Amino acid sequence: MTTLADRPARDAIRVEPSESGFGARMTGLDLRKPLPPELLAQVKAAWAAHAVVSFPGQPLSLEELEAFTQQIGPFGEDPFIAPMPGHPNVLELRREPDEKATNFGAGWHSDWSFQQAPPAATLLRSEVVPPVGGDTLFADCMRAYEALSPAFQAMLAPLRAVHSATRAYGTKGVFARETEKRTMQIIVSEEAEKTQAHPLVRTHPVTGRKALFVSPVYTVGIEGMTAKESQAILTFLFGHMTQDEFVYRHRWEKDMLLMWDNRCTVHLAEGGYDGHLRVMHRTTVAGEVPA
Ligand code: SIN
Repeated sequence: MTTLADRPARDAIRVEPSESGFGARMTGLDLRKPLPPELLAQVKAAWAAHAVVSFPGQPLSLEELEAFTQQIGPFGEDPFIAPMPGHPNVLELRREPDEKATNFGAGWHSDWSFQQAPPAATLLRSEVVPPVGGDTLFADCMRAYEALSPAFQAMLAPLRAVHSATRAYGTKGVFARETEKRTMQIIVSEEAEKTQAHPLVRTHPVTGRKALFVSPVYTVGIEGMTAKESQAILTFLFGHMTQDEFVYRHRWEKDMLLMWDNRCTVHLAEGGYDGHLRVMHRTTVAGEVPA
């Protein structure tokens, strides 16, 4: 049982928003122990307000990462990647110094958006951070949506975008064609060729804000449109939402936990650390059917 003495002092908890208000850093919490309800509520409120929240100085074991994840919500389902032995809900994103294969997550995406109910949250904890590179970039799909003209927003409103894992995990996808060594065990499968349509603009179930819900990795078309028509709209949207003004660059420190909202952001792992080890541990929290 958590006693008062175990708890961090309330006034020591700080949420420091990044300058743009998208992304924040939260300090003063010890995530190795279960958070009492009022602190958990503060974490969830910061996450809703800032979409991407980092918690520096969190030397969590895998079990502690699992336990904190479950305080946020039930685990999501992670397909196409072998989980860590004995930890079916934890992925190790590991790249050895001698790996030449493109780093994992190198294209803009929202995690597993091809699922019927894609994950609400992803939690990523840094175990080994390279001395150069390895940043993760996030685009704010809410502000990107809000910056569109009312006429363009109205045109997007009824559209449903088609998502699929095929380009990455399909039998002819990027991982199937790769020849370079990769430490992570990727499971290429015909399952990846399935498609799932979602509203192109989704409404966040907590904040009520609308966000673009498309990405170059997983969005393969727009329902009812020709490939050329879909491509014209999607190419415009991908360029629009990943402009510098909507992007938060996350720089890692060792033992940092990052929690992001897949319902209103897309992200990209930048790479740039060839010759160095990078090790991260990742969990997901189940989400709802996008609406
Ligand atoms: C990912 O989850 O897409 C990878 C993020 C990262 O390794 O920075």
